[in-house]
Amino acid sequence: MQNLLTEGDVNFSNARKDWYKLLDTETASLLKEDADVFLHQALSTPCMEVLDSASGIYITAVSGKKYMDFHGNSVHQVGYGNQYVLDSVKNQMDKLAFSPRRYTNEISIEFAKKLTSLLPQNLNRILFTPGGTSSIGMALKLVRVITGKNKVVSIQDSFHGASLDAIGVGGEYQFKKYMGKLYPENVLIPQPVTYNNPNLEKGGIDFADALEQVLIENDDIGAFIAETIRNTDVQIPSIAYWKKVRDICTRYHVLLILDEIPIAFGRTGKMFAFEHYGIEPDILCLGKGLGAGIIPIAAMITKDAYNIASDISLGHYTHEKSPLGAAAGLAMLEYMEAHNLLAETVIKEAFLKIELNKLKEQHNVIGDIRGIGLLWGIELVKDHITKEKACDAAEKILYYCLNNGLSFKVSQGNVLQLCPPLTISLIELSEAIKVLSTAFNNL
Ligand SMILES: Cc1ncc(COP(=O)(O)O)c(C=O)c1O
Repeated sequence: MQNLLTEGDVNFSNARKDWYKLLDTETASLLKEDADVFLHQALSTPCMEVLDSASGIYITAVSGKKYMDFHGNSVHQVGYGNQYVLDSVKNQMDKLAFSPRRYTNEISIEFAKKLTSLLPQNLNRILFTPGGTSSIGMALKLVRVITGKNKVVSIQDSFHGASLDAIGVGGEYQFKKYMGKLYPENVLIPQPVTYNNPNLEKGGIDFADALEQVLIENDDIGAFIAETIRNTDVQIPSIAYWKKVRDICTRYHVLLILDEIPIAFGRTGKMFAFEHYGIEPDILCLGKGLGAGIIPIAAMITKDAYNIASDISLGHYTHEKSPLGAAAGLAMLEYMEAHNLLAETVIKEAFLKIELNKLKEQHNVIGDIRGIGLLWGIELVKDHITKEKACDAAEKILYYCLNNGLSFKVSQGNVLQLCPPLTISLIELSEAIKVLSTAFNNL
């Protein structure tokens, strides 16, 4: 099904039309100005609200309305307006805000060293770039240099960024529509679906077998790219799956690119999601929360052995060694360590798991609850056997919650994705659960 006409896919659903009717005149007028000047596109313009400020877990609209932000485009691990990060960026801004190419700067060196020190010893070569999509682009170029092969295997319905190269390896139809010829013969295999599979240890091996089958049939594949844990609809493959995939990639000399752009920096309760699986990628892509939601910065990290492309430009980006991005990223990592955010996240995960499973017991429309760290999905179904999607219910719950001060994303039309800042308190988490629970009671 390509267009579900729900919030996750387009922005002109009936529920959105009803939402517009409730807006105050100032907001409505600003939204009109926005829609008149920006190019319209799915998932973006026209917009639904006009923001004025943000702090902690809250975003505040010009109308004064506050929302707990359980969406945040996955940039807000350390919360909005984090003072420690802001101070660091402001100091850097006074000193050196931009570093032209051919020059480096101390803060970028320090940041690169700090970030790679948190990774397995092997992953010690890094390139920064302003956005996640371009880190994927650099990874795809590096694969061609290392392997001499153009083809890549990726996962159906996956997303790795919006540029032409990234949509070529991504699986989402919405990004490919009208786009014509894309990445040369990219091969898509199914996502290891984890519906009702609470076992992180086992399961989904057949999905790894699908990768091996593709590699047996094609000897021109350079890499397999996937999110370690899929962010959008929260799919958490098993350890057995990832160990087998790692083994297959090694045996077939295919590079493993892990895209952890939305899920690194504690989102899953570990600094990097692959740490749950005891595997290491050949290339790792990071972004989003790397700049603490303040400065856009992303990274591609690989092994010293792959430092072999010095005669070409892998990422010729103007803001490559951004002192401001480095200041934000370094402060974000320091803040996480100083506030024990990884351990805190594991405590909050346990709380959320109990509360969401209580909700599941009470509401038959909930087909599955799955999550890790502070990334949770509530999958709504019309039928537990066929798993037919309950898109209307998802939309109703979303708009009830938005009207009552809780913002989140709906993925695949029927998965409520909950992704709060890791700095959220248990009291704030309980407040959000209350809003959700009332939304289900009002269905
Ligand atoms: C898994 C994944 N990869 C790549 C990207 C692209 O990152 P950016 O929007 O910073 O280009 C995203 C963004 O949503 C993402 O979720």
